[in-house]
Amino acid sequence: MESRCFRGRTMCLVAAAAVTLFGGSAWAANESEIAEHLIELVKIGRGVVSEQMANINDASKADKGFTGDYMGAQVIDRFKKRTKIDLRIPNVVPQANLYLALVEAEKEVINEAQPIINKQGIAFKGFIPAVFARRTGEQFYKKSGVRMKLTGIDYRNPSNRPDDFESEVLRMFSDPRHPKGQTYVRNTMVDGRPVLRMMDPEYAGVTCLNCHGAPKGERDVSGHKKEGWKEGELAGAISVVLPLK
Ligand code: HEC
Repeated sequence: MESRCFRGRTMCLVAAAAVTLFGGSAWAANESEIAEHLIELVKIGRGVVSEQMANINDASKADKGFTGDYMGAQVIDRFKKRTKIDLRIPNVVPQANLYLALVEAEKEVINEAQPIINKQGIAFKGFIPAVFARRTGEQFYKKSGVRMKLTGIDYRNPSNRPDDFESEVLRMFSDPRHPKGQTYVRNTMVDGRPVLRMMDPEYAGVTCLNCHGAPKGERDVSGHKKEGWKEGELAGAISVVLPLK
């Protein structure tokens, strides 16, 4: 079935999505809500790093005051605002342990980056939202067995390379007929185990183009070659692989 699907390409993915939407049980819906919450927690953390970029890259300052505790508090506050879920009272929150493991991973990544964040005398330090997201995904996987990553068709870091499933879905997302922002969710198998896979597309905003925009091939501030993206184009996706019980 899987191999037939991948030969069937886009149409097959569409059919599979319909199965998930209309044939799914309440249990499946719940699992996809969990995946959505995990994506939200990563996006919030990445947003906090993004807001801190000027502070992080301030060459004149040593201690930036941007600690793991600051990150943890911000993530929990903003998650509560967006979802009404208060991780400070975890007893009443189903899945709180899983969510808190992700918050913990986000804190650890910021704590481990303190030496570079607080380095005086250099401006651009390479600690950017995408790096934060990658390291968070790696830490979270060790804690939970749930895979999360930022991926893209023209990826820069080999750790972000899309697998076959992700490549298919990214291709679907980059098709102008795909409704912008619509996530893709599917129950499938990975390594012989049932999983829920979710992908949430992301698009290039103006702030991304300094590094990922035109002219294609020119080096950006991080030393990577720019991809030549235009504003609004598909940039990539957050991908989750959630093992099902
Ligand atoms: C300062 C330069 C810079 C800016 C600004 C920037 N990126 Fe990136 N981006 C990078 C680097 C460097 C990586 C590789 C990170 C890593 O090592 O995992 C990356 C990785 C990514 C990836 C993961 C796939 C890959 O290439 O490995 C996506 C998706 C992505 N960026 C999207 C965006 C979006 C969307 C924005 C704007 C909101 C943005 N980037 C802004 C430099 C940048």
